[in-house]
Amino acid sequence: METLKNNLFLKALDGETVARPPVWMMRQAGRYLPEFMALKKKYDFFTRCRTPELASDITVQPIDIVQPDAAILFSDILVIPQAMNIEVEMKNGIGPWLPNPIRSQKDVDQVIVPNIHEELGYVMDAITMTKEKLNNRVPLIGFAGSPWTILCYAVQGQGSKNFDLAKGFCFSQPEAAHQLLQKITDTTIAYLKEKVKTGVNAVQIFDSWGGMLSPVDYQEFSWHYINQIVEALAPLTKVIVFGKGCWFAMGEMAKSKASALGVDWTCSARNARYLSGGNITLQGNFDPSRLLSPIPDIKKMVKQMIDEFGKDKYVVNLGHGILPNIPVDHAKAFIDAVKEYGA
Ligand code: CP3
Repeated sequence: METLKNNLFLKALDGETVARPPVWMMRQAGRYLPEFMALKKKYDFFTRCRTPELASDITVQPIDIVQPDAAILFSDILVIPQAMNIEVEMKNGIGPWLPNPIRSQKDVDQVIVPNIHEELGYVMDAITMTKEKLNNRVPLIGFAGSPWTILCYAVQGQGSKNFDLAKGFCFSQPEAAHQLLQKITDTTIAYLKEKVKTGVNAVQIFDSWGGMLSPVDYQEFSWHYINQIVEALAPLTKVIVFGKGCWFAMGEMAKSKASALGVDWTCSARNARYLSGGNITLQGNFDPSRLLSPIPDIKKMVKQMIDEFGKDKYVVNLGHGILPNIPVDHAKAFIDAVKEYGA
């Protein structure tokens, strides 16, 4: 059995009373760190993901530099469609680029549910190497995109303001869409189970584009599949569900077997506690752009945020990923402010 030197994060997910809440930042392994940019110059995106030595180094960078209470494995949600026979590129200045997007039943038929060991073994190797480098300092989070969010990229072919083609596909070819969503779900369950077996201490599901759907469509096209993943993984590990813009679904989510729910910055702490029934651990929700404020303001606002959520059943985080233009000392101030809470 591993003994973590810092298990504050896991305690908060279990709802235990803590002296102060734990803190980590979505996308903390990334572009605001000069150490990351140095590696980015040398290796393209998927090389960084596929080389366990690099992925583990990048995962540990923020642990050394800004010192949050949990690590998140450096990888991407799009390694899943890649493994399912959908080509994915990462283009500089554009982001994800899928040259052959899914648009028909025939396209869906060609999507495979892969053997995880064969197609994603490199992720497991990165986990093993990361665990060695972390040396039990903090827990390691594994993650996956929600099936809906993966479908968004698989069908749209790139990022989008409204994912109109993805929604159009679901509404005009619902049968094909549901088949695709189920294939992604089955792959994701096998993938996350393997991650847990390899050593991650918790998993987070990113539903970055759930907020694009109406509450009714959210149930059909997103939550139905996320909940399958939660049901499959909850007996094995703690599951966090982050749905950006999905405040309307928090009541339903809170009734699931998830250990915690993510909250974005457009939902107040009070509203999030109300909508989630007041009992489940919440995670969030500092506006990532607010890290551009002067450091004394950041510290004041973090304290206020903890007061509003309450120190228990709470994981301090941003409301979405950290932005590339955030000064490292501001990110550090955000984390330090949490560590100073109540001191
Ligand atoms: O630190 C961490 O959080 C771990 C690593 C991580 C990355 N992507 C690395 C990455 C995580 C958890 C993700 C998740 C991810 N990827 C999501 C869900 C979270 C969210 O932000 O909503 C989504 C939607 C993606 C898809 C994706 N990958 C996009 C849209 C982009 C390009 C835009 C951008 O933010 O740069 C990526 C590329 C990507 N994934 C980068 C990083 C560090 C930047 C590109 C690079 O380094 O070359």
